[in-house]
Amino acid sequence: MSKADFSHRASCPVGLMDSGVGGLSVVRVLRQRLPAENLVYAADTGRMPYGPRAAAEVCRFTSQILRFLEGHGVKAAVIACNTATAASLPGLAEEFPFPILGMIGAGARAAARTTRGGRVGIIATRGTVASGEYPRALAALGVTEVWQEACPELPLLVEEGELAGERALAAVRGCLEPLLARGIDTLVLGCTHFPFLAGVISRVAGPGIALVDPAEEVVRELEDLLEARGLRRESAEPGWLKLYTSGEPERLRQMARLLLGEAAEVSRGGWMPGPQAPAPERGESP
Ligand code: DGL
Repeated sequence: MSKADFSHRASCPVGLMDSGVGGLSVVRVLRQRLPAENLVYAADTGRMPYGPRAAAEVCRFTSQILRFLEGHGVKAAVIACNTATAASLPGLAEEFPFPILGMIGAGARAAARTTRGGRVGIIATRGTVASGEYPRALAALGVTEVWQEACPELPLLVEEGELAGERALAAVRGCLEPLLARGIDTLVLGCTHFPFLAGVISRVAGPGIALVDPAEEVVRELEDLLEARGLRRESAEPGWLKLYTSGEPERLRQMARLLLGEAAEVSRGGWMPGPQAPAPERGESP
């Protein structure tokens, strides 16, 4: 299907994906700003975390999930995962007929607008940090004093529903201390799991540091894109939300209730390749 054929597709859903529940922080903003939109969300919980994996592997997983979303007839998609954005965009966007937005460009644009003194900290996964995509995107916007810190424990805390308390506080302190020592004035939540820890993060960062959640900006950019292409769904009825997971559907249902305050329909997602055919026994004829 060509990009031109999308003009009559306003009622089709927007697709979102993440390694787990992190992208629900983007869904949360989308539900507030564009409540009429129908949403399909894919959580690759069975293969989470993405942060420690090689970029090529994360790109392959992302491609599988975008195919799954394509099968649901999405009119646009958001890679609601910084690690997957770093590993797959812009390259993968060329392979799909619908527009695909990612987190990093949006996060960098929001940070460049927000910073007063030009000193920006990024907290993210190991994969996002290693990619160097945030410093690159910020440098292109004229912000060159950028420090990154990998925080692999934080997405796991969010998956376990530990959004406050001593364990979360200690983990956040460990991540922020090196950045606070640099005198940053702006902190980018460079992993979509982190907005769910914003209470603890702002407590540790203190009042002098502006927190940037790239979800706000990516949803604004999605709104502009849908508007420009005549793809906005106009309805007084709220749109539906369907969640899919490669993990335990019941667990994602509970987490959606905790993180979104909403009872969502959850099913098992079929994007992972099926079990491989067993290798033939030695001596067996082919
Ligand atoms: N939510 C993902 C991100 O924005 C990462 C979590 C993971 O390591 O899987 O990068």
